[in-house]
Amino acid sequence: MGKRVLHDKWFKLAKEEGYLSRAAYKLKQIERNKRLFRGGMQVLDLGCAPGAWLQVAREFVGPKGVVVGLDLQEVRHTFDDNVHHFVGDAFKFPSETLKEAAGGRFDIVLSDMAPNTIGHGDAERSVTMGHQILEITPELLKADGHLVFKVLEGSGFPELLAASKKLFQDCRPYKPPASRDVSREIYIVGMGFKRSEAPEKRPEKKRIPPHLRFTEEELRGK
Ligand SMILES: C[S@@+](CC[C@H](N)C(=O)[O-])C[C@H]1O[C@@H](n2cnc3c(N)ncnc32)[C@H](O)[C@@H]1O
Repeated sequence: MGKRVLHDKWFKLAKEEGYLSRAAYKLKQIERNKRLFRGGMQVLDLGCAPGAWLQVAREFVGPKGVVVGLDLQEVRHTFDDNVHHFVGDAFKFPSETLKEAAGGRFDIVLSDMAPNTIGHGDAERSVTMGHQILEITPELLKADGHLVFKVLEGSGFPELLAASKKLFQDCRPYKPPASRDVSREIYIVGMGFKRSEAPEKRPEKKRIPPHLRFTEEELRGK
């Protein structure tokens, strides 16, 4: 196996251009290829630390847009007023708090999240995370909005891609050049969210305490 180049071209460029990580160029390349962003948009960035995608998204949406980030780890960089970031787990953090920061659902949801890599089963866990992202998408994304999420290609990838395709007018995998050749990471880019295709949020089952339970007959007043 070739020696992993730690300080590659993108790492050096990020240092020169003031980005917090080389990941900045992946989002720039996704945008060059897909044209998702417009000035004034509301963007959510899941797994945003250290904050390079927040920097790039802020450039794309301009001063009238809003960028909201969430990560298990704290973001230490100081941003403009229209960039907000929270610490928490994307699958547990209240979506209301994220939407409040943006004034409603988002035009774009980004996720560069990956489960901790341990060497075996990484791709499977990343695909599971992809399905979880699809589950929370209806809560967060506007109709016709766009979703970009990272996944490691493995055995469950075709099924995840098929599930994603059902929810978007156009949905394809894309590997930006700044993504390392050796890595199995790829981004699924869904454009034009079809809200009507998304499963309804299941109502939470409320446990009724025994003293409040009635039979059918009691309910009918018999
Ligand atoms: C590759 S880094 C993201 C880099 C980021 N796009 C940037 O440009 O700086 C992946 C991030 O996902 C976060 N992450 C992983 N699982 C998460 C989860 N369940 N909820 C929130 N963040 C998560 C990690 O803490 C990590 O900071």
